[in-house]
Amino acid sequence: MATRTQSRSSNRDSSDRSRESNRSSRGRERSAFSWGEGAGPIIAAAIGGAAIGFAANYGRKALLQGMEASIGDWDEILTAEHKEALAIFDKMLATDESQTFKRKMLFMKLCHALDKHAHEEEMVVYPALRQANDGYDADQLEVEHGHVKTFLFELEQMGPDAPNWLEKVREFRALVAEHAEMEEQQVFPRFKRSMDEEQNANITSMVNKDGFWMA
Ligand SMILES: [Fe+2]
Ligand SMILES: [Fe+2]
Repeated sequence: MATRTQSRSSNRDSSDRSRESNRSSRGRERSAFSWGEGAGPIIAAAIGGAAIGFAANYGRKALLQGMEASIGDWDEILTAEHKEALAIFDKMLATDESQTFKRKMLFMKLCHALDKHAHEEEMVVYPALRQANDGYDADQLEVEHGHVKTFLFELEQMGPDAPNWLEKVREFRALVAEHAEMEEQQVFPRFKRSMDEEQNANITSMVNKDGFWMA
C-alpha cells in the first residue's frame, strides 16, 4: 500500500512528466512554426550559398563585360556584338530539322545576345542621339528593334522543327545585318565624330555599365 508521501511523490513525478511532455510538445510547436535552435547552421549555409552564387554571378558579369570593355570605345563594343549575333545566326543556318536541341540552344543564345545589345542601344546610345538632335535615326533604329522582337516571338512560336524555320532565320538575319550596317557605316561614325573625347568616354562607360547588368 502506498504511503501518503509516496503517493505525493508519485503524483509529483507524474505532473513533472506531464510538464516535461508539455514543454517538449511546445518545443515541437516552436520548431514547427519558427526557426528552432538547429536552424542556425542551415540559415547560415543558405546565406553563404546565396553569397557564393551572387559572387559567382558578379564575377561572371565582370569577366564578360571586362572582356567587352577591353575591345575599346562604345561603337567598337556594339560592332563586336553585331558580329557575335551574326555568327550565332550562321550556326543556326548550318543546322537541319533533326537538330532541334541545338536549334533551341542557339536560339536562346541569340535571344540573350540581342536582348543585351538592344538594351545598351535603347538605354544609352539612342537617347544620347536624340539629345544630340538625331531623333530621326534613333526612332528609325528603335522601330527596327521592334521588328527584331517580332522575329524572336515568331521563331519561339514556330518551334525548332517547323519546316520554314531556316527560311525565317535567314529573313531575320538579313534584317539584323542591314540594321547593323546602317549603325556601323552611318549612324555611329557620324555620332562619334560629333562628340569630343570626354563625351565619347562617357557613352563608352554607360554602355559598359548597362552591359554589365544585362550580361
Ligand atoms: Fe540597333
Ligand atoms: Fe546595334
